[in-house]
Amino acid sequence: MTEASYNDIAEWYDRFLQERPVYSEVILPNVLELVGTFQGEHICDLACGQGWVARELARRGAQVTGIDLAPQLLALARRYEEREPLGILYLQGDAQVAEPLSDNSFTGCVCVMALINIPDLQAVFQNVRRILKPGGWFVFAITHPCFETPHAQWTTLPHPEHTIARVVTGYFDERRWFSSNPNGLRGRVGDYHRTLSTYLNTLSGAGFALERAIEPPPSARQAELVPGNQEIPTLLLIRARAI
Ligand SMILES: C[S@@+](CC[C@H](N)C(=O)[O-])C[C@H]1O[C@@H](n2cnc3c(N)ncnc32)[C@H](O)[C@@H]1O
Repeated sequence: MTEASYNDIAEWYDRFLQERPVYSEVILPNVLELVGTFQGEHICDLACGQGWVARELARRGAQVTGIDLAPQLLALARRYEEREPLGILYLQGDAQVAEPLSDNSFTGCVCVMALINIPDLQAVFQNVRRILKPGGWFVFAITHPCFETPHAQWTTLPHPEHTIARVVTGYFDERRWFSSNPNGLRGRVGDYHRTLSTYLNTLSGAGFALERAIEPPPSARQAELVPGNQEIPTLLLIRARAI
């Protein structure tokens, strides 16, 4: 199978996101929980895709700048902005490099389900630290690095209470990997797997202090779709503060 980029799958990814309760019922509420209440904040949505989180933040009164590598996803984001003007500025750029965002320009930054698609984690964290004002906050969401490892799988157990288990493989194997399902997101664009300690140590090395973490349980619809989510979290959300 030919490796795709988000640019190639923009329309498909937009539908994928709308069809999956995990985005609207698990990821978004928990991102908003970590962001907390705000007023007049200038927030960067780094790797914003089609602007799904950017719009939610703007609807709540934030001044939002979204940045993404994929022009086709940004075209969708701008189409949503035309339909519902929220004053979001969308820019094309690489989260690993300084251009086009200025130093000390945001009070907060979100990066949702995108660090897993970007090769240089240290460059991204340093970039986020650079664009944040002192004391600014950073919220990110990723697939859980302890359980969503290369080729991890669900299995069943002959246990009276816990019949579903996760077989975790390749935890120390930090690399990009593709699932064997060609119709899924990971089968198309792949994921960069890193250990939990790599995430946390790179975060503190870039000048952040961990404030809070969430390993969210599933919504009722998500639990029906993926029963194992009632046993094992497949997502990790972190809030950190620039120090
Ligand atoms: C799974 S999507 C998440 C998009 C959006 N944050 C959301 O939650 O819907 C991953 C995003 O990362 C973007 N991306 C990948 N590499 C990037 C990079 N180096 N710089 C900026 N964006 C990047 C992709 O274009 C894609 O929009």
